[in-house]
Amino acid sequence: MRISVIGCGYLGAVHASAMAKLGHDVVGIDTDAEKVAKLGSGVAPFFEPGLPELLAESLATGRLRFSTDIGDAADAQVHFVAVGTPQLPYSDGADLRFVRGAFDALAAVAAPGSLIVGKSTVPVGTAAELEERMRRAGSDALLAWNPEFLREGFAVADTLTPDRLVYGVADERATDLLDEVYAQILDAGTPRIVTDFATAELVKTAANAFLATKISFINAMAEIAEATGADVTTLADAIGHDARIGRRFLNAGIGFGGGCLPKDIRAFTARAEELGRAESVAFLRQVDAINLRRRERAVDLAVEMLDGSVFERRIAVLGLTFKPQSDDTRDSPALDVAARLHGLGARVLATDPEGIENARLRHPQLEYVATASEALADAELVVLVTEWPEYRELEPDLVAGLMASARVIDARNVLDPAAWRAAGFAYRGLGRS
Ligand code: UDX
Repeated sequence: MRISVIGCGYLGAVHASAMAKLGHDVVGIDTDAEKVAKLGSGVAPFFEPGLPELLAESLATGRLRFSTDIGDAADAQVHFVAVGTPQLPYSDGADLRFVRGAFDALAAVAAPGSLIVGKSTVPVGTAAELEERMRRAGSDALLAWNPEFLREGFAVADTLTPDRLVYGVADERATDLLDEVYAQILDAGTPRIVTDFATAELVKTAANAFLATKISFINAMAEIAEATGADVTTLADAIGHDARIGRRFLNAGIGFGGGCLPKDIRAFTARAEELGRAESVAFLRQVDAINLRRRERAVDLAVEMLDGSVFERRIAVLGLTFKPQSDDTRDSPALDVAARLHGLGARVLATDPEGIENARLRHPQLEYVATASEALADAELVVLVTEWPEYRELEPDLVAGLMASARVIDARNVLDPAAWRAAGFAYRGLGRS
């Protein structure tokens, strides 16, 4: 099939390359000329494992190209909209400007009977509004909402072998076209849920709200563990054995960040308020508050471990991205902790395998170093804030040898407390004594 993908960020670039891998003829469109040039020459504009290989493979077949001109989408049979829906600057709501812009641009070029598919995460009710907008613009293209559940760091696998496909449609022709697009994925036995626009939009919002709630639940237990001397990691292991609960997404630490979970729960709250159902998701305010408290807790622990003040103390911060296997520092708890320590006057030396460039754009005041060894040299405290494998595998003896004094905050609860204590470290995790 002939496919266009509008928006070539974390979601769109992977989706476009994956659609070409499925055998379709794909054009990826983005307004950022530099990004388009990079993608067209096989360079991924951000870190995503497997994307460079997928991009190279798809470009080599001649089935994938990139352009800044929306006119190049005109002959596509299916258009995917994968633009961002960031949080509005002065409220919790989602900024739909890019989605509306993409739909307006497509309404002008999409062929009659072609299908426009929304993939962006949007407040429930957006698809219906967009359909009306398309009709007013005189377009008779079809519309579907097909939310994306990919995780950064696993985006390629999540796109090519998703847990499920969800179609929000108002017309069987839309279902048929999506079935054709995803034929290979469906043949592999992937579950497919066909529903209306509102349910499809809500599935995505609900999934992210649930995941965020699960993380804040275990972080709330970490707070209780801290007050009682209990160990939240053992608690998570024990309750996780119950298949109804499950161990995944039960890791306590400095909480969730990134371009999705934080802004999605806030947008959900804002939308529920508009719908007169604020009380239904009022707990999400707590989920957000618990999450933000854990960053403060990590900073308080640093102050405590340095006997009351971090002022002019040398602190190594390991990790800047919101999670490992990503260069993304959007709403990153790790970067936030580094910035807060710096704000308290600490001499912070921060490092990350992939995130320094993005971190520097957000917090140019911080001191960045290329390696963990440089960050650790003469430090009085090390704070592990993003659980990259290379930090999890650090040898406590070697680390102690580099530092001025052996103190560690394991803000992701991924180190072995016994091993670090045996090497002479004062060890503190979050929610474990
Ligand atoms: C998330 C959803 O998982 C994905 O389905 C959706 O499409 C987009 O949002 P992503 O933001 O890439 O994906 O990252 P995810 O792996 O979900 O992690 C989110 C945050 O939660 C990270 O900051 C991570 O460190 C944190 N987290 C995750 C925890 O603090 N504890 C856990 O147990 C799991």
